[in-house]
Amino acid sequence: MAINSVLVALTFVVLAQGASLGQDGRLRYDNFSVYKVKFETAEQRSILRKLAEDRENFRLWHEAKDELHLMISPGAFNEFDTEIQRTNVSANLFISNVQELIDSEEEGNLKASRDGTFGWKKYNSLAEIYAWLDEILVAYPVITESFILGQSYEGRTIRGIKISYKSNNPGVFIESNIHAREWITSATATWLINEFLTSEDDFVRNLAENHDWYIVPVLNVDGFVYTHEKDRMWRKTRQPSEISTCIGVDPNRNYDSHWMENDGASSNPCAEDYGGPNPFSEPEIQAMSDYVSSIKGKINVMLAFHSYSQLLLSPYGHTKEEFPPNFDDLLAVAKAFGDAVESLPYGTVYRYGSSADILYPASGATNDWAYNEQGVEISYTIEYRDTGRYGFILPPVQIIPNAEEALVGIAALLDKCEELGYLRLKTTQ
Ligand code: ARG
Ligand code: ZN
Repeated sequence: MAINSVLVALTFVVLAQGASLGQDGRLRYDNFSVYKVKFETAEQRSILRKLAEDRENFRLWHEAKDELHLMISPGAFNEFDTEIQRTNVSANLFISNVQELIDSEEEGNLKASRDGTFGWKKYNSLAEIYAWLDEILVAYPVITESFILGQSYEGRTIRGIKISYKSNNPGVFIESNIHAREWITSATATWLINEFLTSEDDFVRNLAENHDWYIVPVLNVDGFVYTHEKDRMWRKTRQPSEISTCIGVDPNRNYDSHWMENDGASSNPCAEDYGGPNPFSEPEIQAMSDYVSSIKGKINVMLAFHSYSQLLLSPYGHTKEEFPPNFDDLLAVAKAFGDAVESLPYGTVYRYGSSADILYPASGATNDWAYNEQGVEISYTIEYRDTGRYGFILPPVQIIPNAEEALVGIAALLDKCEELGYLRLKTTQ
C-alpha cells in the first residue's frame, strides 16, 4: 500500500514534468522553451549533453561545435538554470512556447486541408504524400517510375520515385526525412518532384530533363507518422531497444561507415544520436543501403535532406583531422549552391564545409557512407531553413521559399559538378 502510493506519486511527478498528453492523443509542449547555449570546453558540452539524456524534460534540437539548442520542459527550468550557472555557459531563449508554434502549424494545416488538395501551403501526412505519388505516377507514366526501398520496422513501405526523361543521364539521389521531425525536407522533396514534372520554365526543364532523379521523400516512415500522430518532436526510428526502455535509433548514425568512431554517435539508447546496437540495425537503413548499392553505378550525386541550420555539409563526418581527396571540389560545389541561394531575393545564407569540421564528429551518416562505401564522389547533407527562429517547426508559408532555394541551389551545384567533370556516366545503362 505504502509502496503503491509512492509509485503513484512518482509517476505523477514524472508526468507533471514532461510533456503531457493532449485529448487527441498527441504530446503537448505547453511552455516548453528552446535555448541556444554557447559553450567553450568539451567538458561543458558533455555536461549539457548529459542533461539532454533526460528526454522527458530536455530534448537536443541542434548541435554545432560551439553551441547546443536545447528544448526544456517548464518543470525542469530550475534544474537547467542551475546547470547553466554551475557550468558557466551562456544561454539565450529563442522559443518561449513550443506548443504555440505547433498549434499555429496545425491551424495552417487544417486551413489548407479544407481546400482539399495536396499542396505546399501545409505539411502533408505520409498517406497524403503516398496518394499524391500515385497520382503523379499515373499522370506521367513514361517519365516516372515507382520504386520501393523496403519495409520499415513497423511494416510501412518506404517508397521512392525515379524521374528520367532520357537515357544516359547522370544520376542524382535524394534522401529526405530520415529524421522524423524535419518536415520541411519532405515538403521540399515533393515540391521538387512536382516542378520537375510540371514546370514550363526553361531553367527547370533543363535541370529536370538532363538528370535522372531518384527521390525518396520520406525515408523514416515510422518516425514521420509518429511525428504526425503522437510526438511532433520525434527524431529517431521506432524500433525498441533490447537494453533500454528508450525507443529508436538515430538512422543518420546507423550506416556502416566508420560506425560509432570518434564519438561520432552515442552508445546510449536514450540519446538522440544513438548509433544503434550495430550498423544497419534499422531496417530502413538496411533497405536504403541495399537499394543504393544495387544502382550505385548510376549515382553521381547524393543529397541527404535535413533541417535546420542552413548548411551544406560534405564528408568527412567521422574526423576533422583528415579531408577527402576531392575536398577542394566539394567546397567549390558547395559554394556554387550557397551563392545561388543567396542571390535570390530572400538573401538566405548557407555555410558549408566538412561535417566534422563545421559541426561536430558524426559518423555513420548517409552522405559519408555514400562517399566512402559507394564511390559517390559528390555527397552532401543539406540542412535547410532556418537558423533557429522556428527550428523544426518552420511555418508552412516558408515551404515554397525554402523549396525555391533548394531548386536554384541544386541547379547551381549540378552545373558546377558538370564543369568539374563529375557528371560523366559511370557505367553504361
Ligand atoms: N544534423 C545532422 C545530423 O545530426 C547532420 C549530420 C551531418 N554529419 C554528417 N556526417 N553527415 O544527423
Ligand atoms: Zn536531420
